[in-house]
Amino acid sequence: MGQRIFNFSAGPATMPVTVLETIQREMLDYKGEGMSIMEMSHRSKTFDAIVVEAEALVREIMGFSDQYQTLFLQGGATGQFAAVPLNLSQPGKVAEYIDSGSWSSKAVKEAEKLGKPFRVTAASKADKYRHIPTDFVVGKDAAYVHITSNNTIYGTQWQNFPDTGSVPLVADMSSDFYCKRFDPNRFGLIYAGAQKNAGPSGVTIIVVRKDLLARSPKDIPTIFNYQINAEKNSLYNTPNTFGIYVVNLVMHWIKNQGGIDQVEKINRQKAKLLYDALDGSDFYRPYADAGSRSLMNVTWNCPSEELEKKFIAEATAAGLSGLKGHRSIGGIRASIYNAMPMAGVERLIEFMRDFEKKS
Ligand SMILES: Cc1ncc(COP(=O)(O)O)c(C=O)c1O
Repeated sequence: MGQRIFNFSAGPATMPVTVLETIQREMLDYKGEGMSIMEMSHRSKTFDAIVVEAEALVREIMGFSDQYQTLFLQGGATGQFAAVPLNLSQPGKVAEYIDSGSWSSKAVKEAEKLGKPFRVTAASKADKYRHIPTDFVVGKDAAYVHITSNNTIYGTQWQNFPDTGSVPLVADMSSDFYCKRFDPNRFGLIYAGAQKNAGPSGVTIIVVRKDLLARSPKDIPTIFNYQINAEKNSLYNTPNTFGIYVVNLVMHWIKNQGGIDQVEKINRQKAKLLYDALDGSDFYRPYADAGSRSLMNVTWNCPSEELEKKFIAEATAAGLSGLKGHRSIGGIRASIYNAMPMAGVERLIEFMRDFEKKS
């Protein structure tokens, strides 16, 4: 086997090595079945046991009550940008969106395209999305409030979730899914494409409060209908069986290392190390405002674009990949998801210090 490098890609992203090893071990013969999970019927007892376990583990790990259900659907977070307004809009009510980055505004555009009443209640576009807009009041006529809990491109993250009272809070948690503890029972619905913190691309995790399922209109496409997918336990049609199997392994990986609190502790240590390195340098300039910094995506600039290109090329050659900032803002972005080991962050900081010294 070749040597593994440190992969700082924003997603699909680095996976826990023990999970990859389990997949490798079980690839040809899943627990004596004589076939791989990806060759097995989604209606088989074996697969059913996996989806039932994963459904429960996703809720258990964060402490969702039994008033919630996990769904494993397809279409990515982008699919959910449409599914949320399709299912949760209500006659006479307006969906509220907090625009904290490109992904939030893409979610708004889908609601708009579908002709659902919406308003952008707060936005941080004016400062190029360097902070999370937290100063807003939710209208009494709100159908739901949609936030993006972590803005992958800009490296900003909600530090405390807003209190929306009886209005369901909906969050796109694609890039900070299960990176830290939060009170899950304050949410109406959360969703995340799995490919950053929970597994491979192609499976979308949704946790929805069951009373909201009654909102799903009958005339929307079945594939997006939360109520039908919930009734069929995510098996209305052929799901991403392999993806759900891997998500289940990742949930076990979280649980086996001591659960969310342990994951959060390590994430905070990794992020502190990296932010301290940035703050201690006059050469690197952090992108996000200090009060909105993400634990997952750390963004910064070098003194010039030319130096940024050099930084990325030399880092790649040194086995530190995926550090190029998103094409919309440039710069450097280190995605330090749950599966990025401390050693990766330490190696990156070492590289940064050497690069600064010789530049
Ligand atoms: C916060 C956030 N939302 C949505 C998306 C889009 O996800 P998908 O590609 O699964 O549709 C991304 C992708 O990077 C993201 O980071």
